[in-house]
Amino acid sequence: MGKILITGGTGFIGSHTCVELLDKGYEIVVMDNLSNSKFESVKRIEQLTNKTFKFYKVDMLDFNGMCKIFDENKIDSVIHFAGLKAVGESVQKPLEYYNNNIVGTVNLLRVMDRYNCKNMIFSSSATVYGVDNSPPYTEDMTTSATNPYGYTKVMIEQILRDLCIADSDWSVVSLRYFNPIGANKSGLIGEDPNGIPNNLVPYIAQVAIGRLEKLSIYGNDYKTPDGTGVRDYIHVVDLAKGHISALDYAKNHRGFEPINLGTGNGSSVLEVVASYEKACNKKITKRFAPRRAGDLAISYANVQKAKRLLNWEAKYNIDEMCVDSWNFTVKNPKGL
Ligand code: NAD
Ligand code: UFG
Repeated sequence: MGKILITGGTGFIGSHTCVELLDKGYEIVVMDNLSNSKFESVKRIEQLTNKTFKFYKVDMLDFNGMCKIFDENKIDSVIHFAGLKAVGESVQKPLEYYNNNIVGTVNLLRVMDRYNCKNMIFSSSATVYGVDNSPPYTEDMTTSATNPYGYTKVMIEQILRDLCIADSDWSVVSLRYFNPIGANKSGLIGEDPNGIPNNLVPYIAQVAIGRLEKLSIYGNDYKTPDGTGVRDYIHVVDLAKGHISALDYAKNHRGFEPINLGTGNGSSVLEVVASYEKACNKKITKRFAPRRAGDLAISYANVQKAKRLLNWEAKYNIDEMCVDSWNFTVKNPKGL
């Protein structure tokens, strides 16, 4: 059996997936340009699993650099996490996002094609459901976006669909993640954003540890039970395990298959804050602020397809996610 190439493997979701793969005995090769992660991740993954693997500091925009990875390793499948992911930044820097995410992915696909490696698990997002569908979201709904980041996911899915139509040897599973949070139980790896976090749970974590003063809750007048936004938070370890199920599925199936990875349950901002307060045994200082542009009131997944095709479902609840996030934060108060 060949190896699995993990692009973006030192990032938040990638690092957790590397751990689950190594624990299951898969051989991996990791590629990342370290634009949004640190080499320290590699050391932590090796420490945690007691295994080693090759790491390449290579950019997806570097075609020859990626060819070298395929020359030096027999790669069977690619799990493709690499990409820029900040919604607000994508509005400011659309060309950077389209170039990095779309041109980078097309480059990677061309390299894979050249080496006859035609299995990919792609990191898509619930953002592809846009604003016109109502939750729970099912994979057959139309896709759209409201910002360049979201469009990169919509467009990459289209490219992957077209590729599978053109060449029936390709097998692509596009995993549409809902809101990944939490960390590995060891506290050795977790979410380590650069600068001030955009996302709710990393922000709460930094308030809890004293790096930020107070949480702004963006909107308390949504049509939700407590007025705050509702999301389908999923433990990153559950999410990581979903990739292993997807790899198994892709081995025996061809074509393009989009699949939601969520819990199927929504939690409001106030519920997440309450759960985090229990986990860290502190009060989170907070205030209500105006709605954030582009936010939806409610987003959660229909998870039947993942159960049916992948025999996978999420196990952890929101309290466990907050406990694991806090454990990582306490052990790494300044990040990795
Ligand atoms: P992350 O930023 O922690 O990881 C992405 C990794 O990709 C980083 O380590 C970064 O250095 C690397 N990278 C970026 N551009 C690259 C390039 N040109 N060449 C090589 N490496 C490059 O993010 P994450 O949260 O782990 O997300 C992983 C994937 O999942 C992304 O594609 C993201 O869009 C998608 N996703 C994330 C979320 C979320 O909330 N975290 C939700 C839905 C989808
Ligand atoms: N929120 C706050 N205060 C904050 C941060 C967030 O109140 O400081 C609220 C948001 O308004 C939202 C909820 O917390 O109601 C979750 O916000 P996140 O930023 O954590 O997550 P989003 O659902 O907005 O974004 C996620 C991914 C994006 C993706 C988007 C749509 O991070 O990559 O889902 O699927 F584009």
